[in-house]
Amino acid sequence: MNYIDRRHPSVSSRIIPVQPFDYVVFGATGDLTRRKLIPALYYRFKDGQFDDQSRIIGVSRTKWDDAEFQKVARGAITEFVEPEYQDNKTIGRFVSIFSYVANDVSDEKNWNDLKNNLRTDPKIVRAFYLAVAPDLFGPICQYLAKKDYYRRDARVVIEKPLGRDLGSSMEINDAVARIFREDQVYRIDHYLGKETVQNLLALRFANILFEPIWNSAHIDHIQLTVAESVGAGTRGYYDESGALRDMIQNHMLQLLCLVAMEPPASDDADALRDEKLKVLRSLKPIGGADVARTTVRGQYRGVTSETASVKSYQDELPDDKKGSRTETFVALKAEIENWRWSGVPFYLRTGKRMATRVSEIVIQFRNIPHSIFDHAEGAPKPNRLIIRLQPDEGVKMLMMIKDPGPGGMRLREVPLNLSFAQTFSERTPEAYERLLLDVIRGNQTLFMRRDELEAAWSWIDPIRQAWDAAPDAPQPYSAGTWGPTGAIALIERDGRTWHEDGH
Ligand code: BG6
Repeated sequence: MNYIDRRHPSVSSRIIPVQPFDYVVFGATGDLTRRKLIPALYYRFKDGQFDDQSRIIGVSRTKWDDAEFQKVARGAITEFVEPEYQDNKTIGRFVSIFSYVANDVSDEKNWNDLKNNLRTDPKIVRAFYLAVAPDLFGPICQYLAKKDYYRRDARVVIEKPLGRDLGSSMEINDAVARIFREDQVYRIDHYLGKETVQNLLALRFANILFEPIWNSAHIDHIQLTVAESVGAGTRGYYDESGALRDMIQNHMLQLLCLVAMEPPASDDADALRDEKLKVLRSLKPIGGADVARTTVRGQYRGVTSETASVKSYQDELPDDKKGSRTETFVALKAEIENWRWSGVPFYLRTGKRMATRVSEIVIQFRNIPHSIFDHAEGAPKPNRLIIRLQPDEGVKMLMMIKDPGPGGMRLREVPLNLSFAQTFSERTPEAYERLLLDVIRGNQTLFMRRDELEAAWSWIDPIRQAWDAAPDAPQPYSAGTWGPTGAIALIERDGRTWHEDGH
């Protein structure tokens, strides 16, 4: 039952240009710039959301010049932009707004060079994107102030890892806050920029249907899954982090907040972030003995079959990291202690080298209070709402219907399926396209506020501490599966099962 309607132009086809800007990207030679930032900005440029009155200024230690940076930008577009969006004329105009400053952050004299690239017209928005290690945030912010590059309306963009725990996260925030005020700081969690994640807000707050039943009276439990099929061991950073810090502390808790929060009074940034913060502060602490009962961590093992061979996490690691106890999988049961969600568990799971790549939120409703279908074949099953974030974005409602045909009442579960790919013909924008320009618009709605970040760490830290103190290593699971058996036991102990897409 696919509902297809291409009559309505989507909102994304209406492009509202932003003010001209100077975007200064520290760490311009890094992977994030090449893979994400440049392609995202190109798409927005191509759509006419900004033009050659804006500037993108790369800063990094490597001794490049403007031409070299422009060449890298061209390469990034060829590699990461969909071929039908690449056209030489636009690419030429786009890269002409790129310039480069070779600057060793710790060397004071280099800092003067940035002056020639930054325009002083107050109407030109000034943004600093710090795509560098967090220990450089403090020194960069200090220099920006000292060299008069700081402006009261300038924006600074930072991205994870924003700490390893509450203490280190506070240090990072303090270092930035010595120069920039909170309303100038844009903390990226790229999940919030995903179209389907924003759609959660539309689903909940632009429809009358769900809100009256969005509570413990009608919902049995909620599942959040972010499964990836890729491995992790070759990424140096990952072994220092692990799945709890890499995915749960940020992306998955943000998703949980959007699902669980009270309706904000408006779409004002702080109205929304206040509600998310309340959810984080209502999370039942998990610590000490509870950790073994309500959390599971795993690490993937390699598999070899006739057709393929996948290395274990351990085998991917360099020699000096062998024996690592870093988790590549986490499942846990979270509870929110407030009126709306009392008694409704939220089961979260995320992992690398899982059976498939899928991110979804499953809302499992309660069963009907009384069935009139005593003589029907097939008992009514409780409704289930599945919000698929990626891939195959869409929303599915599993409903009971009468199986068509004569011969009495047979009940059957079928999906009411809203597939975004089939409904809309436009390309789904990447998260960074939205987020990078929200910085220019001065809209902080989709960025994490400091108190949210710190509330998330406060909840995560006791779990991490209990794991670090536990004698046991993460449970092994075979690459290409749904994680260790403990994750299945975690939910089955409560008489429930993980959602498997049979539709
Ligand atoms: C990043 C994590 O934040 O998110 C990665 O560091 C992870 O480990 C990635 O692979 C997942 O993002 P996406 O957009 O591919 O779901």
